[in-house]
Amino acid sequence: MDQPSELASIMRVLHDEATERKGTLEAGEMAVANSQLIFKMITAKPTEPHMVGPAFEPHAQAFIASYGQLNVAEDIQGQIEAHNNLVKSCVACHMNFCQGPIPRIEKLYVQ
Ligand code: HEC
Repeated sequence: MDQPSELASIMRVLHDEATERKGTLEAGEMAVANSQLIFKMITAKPTEPHMVGPAFEPHAQAFIASYGQLNVAEDIQGQIEAHNNLVKSCVACHMNFCQGPIPRIEKLYVQ
């Protein structure tokens, strides 16, 4: 298999992290969100140059802001809301740049 791009590698880690956080929240526990990779998203190299564009950075900034809300949440319910908002910002960027993974991303919502 081809080597994933820098951006794709970051995405895989973020996807795994969000899957784990979903499990933690569903088990009724608070999750820790301390990824530094989110800040690398903005400059990471994509597989193809057209995969990012002028709207990419604002989406990435919105994502980073949503991510910060995970740690502002004071209880599980608040963190579930913050998690679901974050998943929304994953989907929002993907609608513009990379539609393929959206069905997988939508599975990350905590009901
Ligand atoms: C700012 C835009 C943006 C945000 C926010 C974003 N993504 Fe992505 N994502 C992309 C782009 C662009 C690619 C294609 C990267 C490539 O192939 O180089 C991608 C690729 C992926 C992939 C496929 C990786 C692979 O194996 O090729 C998955 C899965 C993914 N994203 C999940 C997520 C999840 C989960 C979130 C939220 C936690 C998220 N993304 C947030 C833009 C974004």
